[in-house]
Amino acid sequence: MNVLLIGSGGREHALAWKLAQSPKLGKLFAAPGNPGIAEHAQLVAIDPADHRATVDFCIKNSIELVVIGPEAPLVDGLADNLRTMGFPVFGPNRIPAQLEGSKGFTKDLCARHGIPTARYVRASDKLAAEAALGDFGLPVVIKADGLAAGKGVIIAETAEEAKAALDTMFEGGFGGAGAEVVIEQFLTGEEVSFFALSDGKTVIPFGSAQDHKRVGDGDTGPNTGGMGAYSPASILTPALEERVMAEIIRPTVAALASEGTPYSGILFAGLMLTPDGPSLIEYNARFGDPECQVLLMRLESDLLELAYATARGTLAEAEAPRFSDQTALTVVMAAKGYPATPETGGSIGGLGGIDGAKVFQAGTALSDGELVASGGRVLAVTALGADAAEAQHAAYAAVAAIDFPTGFYRRDIGWREVARLTANP
Ligand code: AMP
Ligand code: GLY
Repeated sequence: MNVLLIGSGGREHALAWKLAQSPKLGKLFAAPGNPGIAEHAQLVAIDPADHRATVDFCIKNSIELVVIGPEAPLVDGLADNLRTMGFPVFGPNRIPAQLEGSKGFTKDLCARHGIPTARYVRASDKLAAEAALGDFGLPVVIKADGLAAGKGVIIAETAEEAKAALDTMFEGGFGGAGAEVVIEQFLTGEEVSFFALSDGKTVIPFGSAQDHKRVGDGDTGPNTGGMGAYSPASILTPALEERVMAEIIRPTVAALASEGTPYSGILFAGLMLTPDGPSLIEYNARFGDPECQVLLMRLESDLLELAYATARGTLAEAEAPRFSDQTALTVVMAAKGYPATPETGGSIGGLGGIDGAKVFQAGTALSDGELVASGGRVLAVTALGADAAEAQHAAYAAVAAIDFPTGFYRRDIGWREVARLTANP
């Protein structure tokens, strides 16, 4: 089977690496890809924003499955156009992708279907938003409605901070994403990420993870796309997972199906484990980056078969995904300056000698045949271990062997899980 993979990050390198292990794979193409992805796929210079060109490529190259990695093409309706032309796609259509594309869409869906989530108000002008602030205590959470690359959420500790956040959003600080805002109640608890495959009707759990959003050790500094992750997250016990499936995931998939806009692809739920039970913080319409790297490191099943069954609507007949009992942990190596202005062009060496870990490439490029940094997050160094402590040890041993002088990384990835191990050996 010939497959086209859309995307160019560490997530897509992990997807390419895993798809390439399938005996059913014919030729793998990636658009636009990166040097790591090129180890498994033929890179093609089509622009996924050009739907016509993408469809033409699929026709010419007998593509039987398109796997869409990032959210932007999903929210932009690439999957709709491919499906209309008869191509099976792993990834939701434009409207169900609004689960990620519009925070207000998701909150309203939760409200209609009794799905647990923080109390909220939507507002599309500043006066209304300021008036609504009075209905919430402090801290209060203010979110740009649209896609903002993980940066559109402000947790305001004071009324002044809340007003300043609204000023920023309505003055275009988050571009079009902030033309409408969601104001919501601040939830307490521990955060966990949960994944499920949905073909629109059948929905199957696909593992848990925890990531580290802040740039600095001890969860300090600005938010990033994610500086590291591990899977599974033992805090999401089997009993809690069943509650998440029953109270959040299945009702969401059923709601979208009943509204005539079924969700097909991977559904990524950001959850808060509150004292009252799991509550939905947000949905993403794709795999997390770097959560994908740790999930796929543990996946023992054939990803191509699962993605194809998801795309074809035959998940009910597919074999359930099997995961290793081991823990996978990934450490992101970023370019200095990230998340503000990363320093690009720095050389990366030592990847050839890595043993006991898999290095997924994100913001890398070739310059005169040498591998250099070309983006904020550059590498995701990923290892398996019997537990989080062993996986952490193996990942950091590999990090130490990589020569990336203009890079940096957090030294405490996995601390929560390692602390739990120490507390309950
Ligand atoms: P989101 O982009 O919606 O995942 O929000 C980014 C981060 O903001 C989350 O990972 C949480 O750490 C935090 N956050 C979002 N909503 C809430 C909430 N209602 N209560 C507490 N923290 C939140
Ligand atoms: N690592 C968080 C995300 O992919 O949204």
